[in-house]
Amino acid sequence: MDWLDALLRRPGGPPRTGPLDASHAAAVAALHHQGGFARLWDPAECAGLLVERAVVADGVFSGDGTALKGFVMSRLAADEAEVLSVVIARQARRNGLGAGLMRAHLDQLARRGIARLFLEVDEGNTAAIALYRRLGFGEVGRREGYYPKADGSRAAALVMRRDIG
Ligand SMILES: CC(C)(COP(=O)(O)OP(=O)(O)OC[C@H]1O[C@@H](n2cnc3c(N)ncnc32)[C@H](O)[C@@H]1OP(=O)(O)O)[C@@H](O)C(=O)NCCC(=O)NCCS
Repeated sequence: MDWLDALLRRPGGPPRTGPLDASHAAAVAALHHQGGFARLWDPAECAGLLVERAVVADGVFSGDGTALKGFVMSRLAADEAEVLSVVIARQARRNGLGAGLMRAHLDQLARRGIARLFLEVDEGNTAAIALYRRLGFGEVGRREGYYPKADGSRAAALVMRRDIG
């Protein structure tokens, strides 16, 4: 039975989403290191972001609530917000967690009166771009040479936007 298999593979039931606070800083930093970004966040930087009034942070946890499997953070300015980072744990990807987390985050932002969410994404990041398109984000700009790459070259960023509400 598919549903029984799924439950057995997920002790505690299906994953849950919820807000993050400074107590999650170390787990967020560890996840950020799995994101493949050129500039890494350390736990102190994460703690600073998690207590910032203008930052909204949500996480997705294992069903028993013990393990943080992914996070997303956005910074608010008036009725707009910008995604600072979103990462799902490497071994948990392609299970719908990223999409579920982003939907919960969009709901959270809507409750705070945010009308538009922006983000930048490396034009070569096909997984993230596919996820964002699926969630209704559209391309509104492009920044040449925005991201430094390991080989010394630079990659362009796509700027994407989704209206909320
Ligand atoms: C981008 C990321 C958050 C996606 O998380 P995820 O939990 O794997 O995504 P989901 O399983 O919810 O996927 C939702 C949809 O996104 C698209 N998608 C996700 N990963 C994909 C991949 N590797 N290739 C193509 N499409 C992909 C698909 O449309 C997918 O739906 P489907 O599985 O039904 O086809 C994850 O790959 C990640 O953490 N990457 C590293 C960090 C990163 O690049 N963050 C974004 C920075 S801008």
